[in-house]
Amino acid sequence: MGRTLLICKPDAVERGLVGEIVGRLERKGLRLIAAELRKLDRQTAERHYAEHAGKPFLDDLIAFITRSPALVAVVEGPGEAWAVVRLAMGTTDPAKAQPGTIRGDLAIDMTENLVHGSDGPESAAREIALFFPVLDRS
Ligand code: RTP
Ligand code: MG
Repeated sequence: MGRTLLICKPDAVERGLVGEIVGRLERKGLRLIAAELRKLDRQTAERHYAEHAGKPFLDDLIAFITRSPALVAVVEGPGEAWAVVRLAMGTTDPAKAQPGTIRGDLAIDMTENLVHGSDGPESAAREIALFFPVLDRS
């Protein structure tokens, strides 16, 4: 079994699409391990997106991800759960994401792209520890 971090970003909560997004992943065969509606503070958002430090889009990204509550969650499934979630999400730019994916079906804006999923086993472990330290120790 593998675990990965999922964030339904503020646009997903604002647009009432959390159920749709989580439902798609649950129907695929993933299971919720932890979930919490949480308004991210700037420091947590910057740590989460540390790989993007110095990039031109970082300020807009941090402003967006901290503007209102997001659903932060851990999901679990057979094999590499992070890879299953990334496939279901679709590519970063929703305008170019495949139909049938969350971003491809439900979004069009590069920043407001509804979901985050860890992009590998190391980032999944790091992000789960950042958002759910208690779970990480269990
Ligand atoms: P995420 O981390 O949020 O799951 O998204 P991702 O892996 O698909 O994309 P990543 O490269 O990690 O970028 C993180 C978020 O930054 C915004 N972004 N904007 N304007 C741009 O060129 C640009 N590039 C990235 C997106 O909101 C992306 O989700
Ligand atoms: Mg990413």
